[in-house]
Amino acid sequence: MSVEVTVATSASPELRDALNRLVPQLSSSAKPLSDADVVRMTTDHDVVLFVAKHDDVIVGTLTLVVFAIPSGQRAWIEDVIVDGDVRGLGIGAALTNAAIEEGRRRGVRTIDLTSRPSREAANKLYQKLGFEIRDTNVYRFFIESDRSG
Ligand SMILES: CC(C)(COP(=O)(O)OP(=O)(O)OC[C@H]1O[C@@H](n2cnc3c(N)ncnc32)[C@H](O)[C@@H]1OP(=O)(O)O)[C@@H](O)C(=O)NCCC(=O)NCCS
Repeated sequence: MSVEVTVATSASPELRDALNRLVPQLSSSAKPLSDADVVRMTTDHDVVLFVAKHDDVIVGTLTLVVFAIPSGQRAWIEDVIVDGDVRGLGIGAALTNAAIEEGRRRGVRTIDLTSRPSREAANKLYQKLGFEIRDTNVYRFFIESDRSG
């Protein structure tokens, strides 16, 4: 199966619709993205929105966020999602490897991510690609009253 992973550098109805199809497969509480949301994501140099295409259709996404802090240039991976119909075919790995490569290219020291233990496929994927479990606590402060994630 041929899959092409690229960075989305401009907004389009196709991209908006694909994200609005994929994101609910990760988060039931996320609000639908507007055109303006997609413009913001695709024009921020430090937010790298990867998409995986199969037969010209977007079937997966991953976002790498790069930031500079006193301890160095670092990055987070968020919102890794592959369409339910095409899982298990290497697309998640291709997206994650592309993000690692981009982090390396930008000179980041570390790439962090979190994944609930119940997400068995995701945890296996990350560990297979070399992510190591850290001994730390993960905290979240909820700004909104919606606490579902
Ligand atoms: C997690 C997810 C992105 C993986 O994408 P994918 O394209 O199916 O993964 P890949 O085909 O690239 O698999 C790569 C590796 O991940 C692991 N893996 C993938 N699916 C798996 C499954 N169902 N069970 C166990 N391990 C699995 C395997 O180690 C696999 O390597 P292998 O095929 O050589 O054994 C996908 O399952 C998904 O979108 N899940 C719902 C959203 C989600 O949980 N996102 C992660 C949030 S942290």
